[in-house]
Amino acid sequence: MQKIKKILIGTHNKGKFKEICDLLPKKLEKISPINLKIPSPDETGKTFQENSELKANFFCEMGKMVTLSDDSGLEVECLDGEPGIYSSRWAKKYGSFDGAMTEIFNRVKKLKKSTAAQFVCSLTIQWPDGKKISEIGKIKGDICSKRGSNGFGYDPIFIPNGYPKTFAEMEYKKKLLIDHRYIAYKKLEKKIKNFL
Ligand code: IMP
Repeated sequence: MQKIKKILIGTHNKGKFKEICDLLPKKLEKISPINLKIPSPDETGKTFQENSELKANFFCEMGKMVTLSDDSGLEVECLDGEPGIYSSRWAKKYGSFDGAMTEIFNRVKKLKKSTAAQFVCSLTIQWPDGKKISEIGKIKGDICSKRGSNGFGYDPIFIPNGYPKTFAEMEYKKKLLIDHRYIAYKKLEKKIKNFL
């Protein structure tokens, strides 16, 4: 079994890149597709897993090395799971993440239903011979008005269950060790520990 010495982190998102690097063992060399001038593929999948697999496959073929990719997003219960896999596309549609967060909060407030939501992350590791493993992580919580300035994306409007703060109000290390990405990574780690 060949140990992984370096790994391509299949994302252009700086927030995700940092979190994934900090979850992986320190000794692994982590490579960004930005440094290799590899663009992002179109996200044509219908699920988080389909998208993380297509990203892993794309970046692995382009970079010719073991690749770990993430597809993730925020599902809001009273919005029938939106923005979901379209989380980053909502930011484009509403001008920015700030605009998308305002839109989500206003819609939730207007509906006066549940504020329940969850972050979902699918992580896929792929080897150049085509072998791949995917795992999903989810964290449940509630939508609130924007609070806090840490983190990225939709962190300011999400309070995880059992905590008094939004992800954006938490210390970076606190969020890192409880979020959807961490949950997916811990499942994946069990399956790849012999390669690390
Ligand atoms: P994609 O996986 O590249 O389609 O992007 C998903 C989008 O969901 C990201 O651009 C983020 O805005 C959002 N997202 C995913 N994970 C997180 C998170 O941990 N915090 C805040 N936003 C997130």
